Amino acid sequence: MRPIFLVLIVTCGTLPQRALADAATVSTRGVTAVGGASVYREVCQGCHMPGGRGAVGAGAFPALAGNGRLAAANYPITMVLNGRGGMPWFNGVLSDTQIANVVNYVRTHFSNNYAGTTTPADVAALRGPVPKLEH
Ligand code: HEC
Repeated sequence: MRPIFLVLIVTCGTLPQRALADAATVSTRGVTAVGGASVYREVCQGCHMPGGRGAVGAGAFPALAGNGRLAAANYPITMVLNGRGGMPWFNGVLSDTQIANVVNYVRTHFSNNYAGTTTPADVAALRGPVPKLEH
């Protein structure tokens, strides 16, 4: 009895963050939207909110509106590919074209007006192997 109990505690302790990333990743599999606005609406808006205004509640979802970190395109490209913390990764979920389009969209909307167009080749250059879930 006792060893099983301990195993359960250890397992549960590692679940919440991974479960969040998994749920978001799985629910966006098979995204057919290609245009930046549609990818944003279907994939990003649930967390980053309409207008990219972000939200604080069950989690903190940073505003993309007026966000100076989007000035360097590699930053949002890398975030979308690899995720971080509560942000799921989309490597293996979204294509180079979908990611390039949504990055261009968030960098030129919501009061952002950053120069330079991201191409699918830019995304491909930063894309590493698809992360493997450990379970
Ligand atoms: C499941 C919720 C969720 C979804 C879906 C999501 N994000 Fe995020 N995003 C987050 C969270 C949480 C963070 C903050 C992560 C951290 O800093 O630890 C974040 C951070 C970011 C950042 C960095 C912001 C900063 O100020 O550092 C960018 C850029 C970003 N997301 C873009 C996107 C784009 C584009 C999409 C759609 C392709 C997207 N996100 C989808 C939750 C999400």
